[in-house]
Formats: sequence, structure tokens, C-alpha cells
Amino acid sequence: MTTVAIVYHSGYGHTAVVAEHVAKGVTGAGAEARLLRITGADQDMDPVLAAITEADAVIFGAPTYMGGPSAPFKAFADATSKVWFTHGWKDKIAAGFTNSLSLSGDKLSTLEYFSVLAAQHGMVWVSTGLMPGAATGDAGIDGVNRLGSSLGLMTQSENAAPDVTPGAGDKKTAELFGARVADAALRWGRGKA
Ligand SMILES: Cc1cc2nc3c(=O)[nH]c(=O)nc-3n(C[C@H](O)[C@H](O)[C@H](O)COP(=O)(O)O)c2cc1C
Repeated sequence: MTTVAIVYHSGYGHTAVVAEHVAKGVTGAGAEARLLRITGADQDMDPVLAAITEADAVIFGAPTYMGGPSAPFKAFADATSKVWFTHGWKDKIAAGFTNSLSLSGDKLSTLEYFSVLAAQHGMVWVSTGLMPGAATGDAGIDGVNRLGSSLGLMTQSENAAPDVTPGAGDKKTAELFGARVADAALRWGRGKA
């Protein structure tokens, strides 16, 4: 079965909610979602690297902290240098998502980081493929792609409990995004076969 690894960090649980909805989208599209949570910069990253090696696609996820991916995610990214030496993930499908407090919050920097990481590994980057909410008349709090992101999934949450925000629109967007990445992995795999 086509497998999509979702490797993410979440300090306070908001990004974890997004990861779960991305996984729901992956599953709904007929692929298997493998959630891999980074819990700290000092954890053993080898099992995470091995799980990604086995997967057909990988989705990177982290909250935006100080205009970039959170430190535990960056520790994971640095650990991927082990795989980079052999280009072991070349041609794997890749995508990314980030959550933060502000509507912008400099989330684009985090997505740019993810896409460069994927490019260093020779992976094939998948965009959101979603029109911005402002263009579809769906930019309200419950809108799909209300933040208008193309490079990867952006979601926004207040610093309330993670079961309050991110809201319904962002969760729906996460599911559509997960489904798109799964579909890309399924098509890419069929082409290779
Ligand atoms: C150290 C730190 C830095 C942050 N920097 C930003 C930032 O640059 N932009 C932003 O919009 N929010 C920023 N935030 C807010 C978080 O992105 C927001 O609380 C997010 O929901 C946290 O996700 P998590 O619960 O998955 O950790 C920051 C929070 C922390 C703790």
C-alpha cells in the first residue's frame, strides 16, 4: 500500500491537530498515513529516518517559531544529513505544513525551509493545489485555504486549547492537502511501476 509519512513537531498541540487532519485526508485518498511525532531535539532520530525511507511520500510539519521551523524539527532536519550523503530519498514525493498564531506570522519562511530541505534530498515537491480563499469567496474563518497558501499548507491558531483552534476551515484544508499529497504519491508510484 502507498504510504505517506507525516513527520512533525508540535510544542503545545496545535500543529498536532493539523497533522491528524492531514493524515485523515491521506487515508481518505486511499493511502496509509504514518504519523511520526518529533518530541524533542535530543530524541533518537534513526527510527524516524527509517520510517521515511520506507514511505512513498513524506510531509514535513512544524509550528512557526520565530519565523522558522521549531528547533526540534530543525534537529530532525539536521539528522536527515545522514540520508543526504547517499541521496537515499531521491524522487520521493514531499510536501509541508505549518501552523502559527498570526495570520501571516512569517509562516512562508517555514514552508520555504521545508521545500529547500526536500530539494536538498532530490525529492519532488507538491504544492497545495488550492485556490486562495480570497479568490473563491471562501476567505472567512471556516474557508478552505483562507490564508491563501500555495507552497504548502498554512493554518492558524490562537493560543487557546488545541481543540478550539485551528478552526474547521483549516482542518478541512488540511484534509484536502493530505489527499492531494496521497494522490500524487499514488500516481507517481503507478508511473514508476
Ligand atoms: C518560541 C515561539 C516562537 C513563536 N514564533 C511565532 C512566529 O514567528 N509567528 C507566529 O505567528 N507565531 C509564533 N508563535 C506562536 C506559535 O506559532 C503558536 O502558538 C502555535 O499554535 C504553536 O503551535 P504548537 O502548539 O504546535 O506548538 C511562537 C511561539 C513560540 C512558543
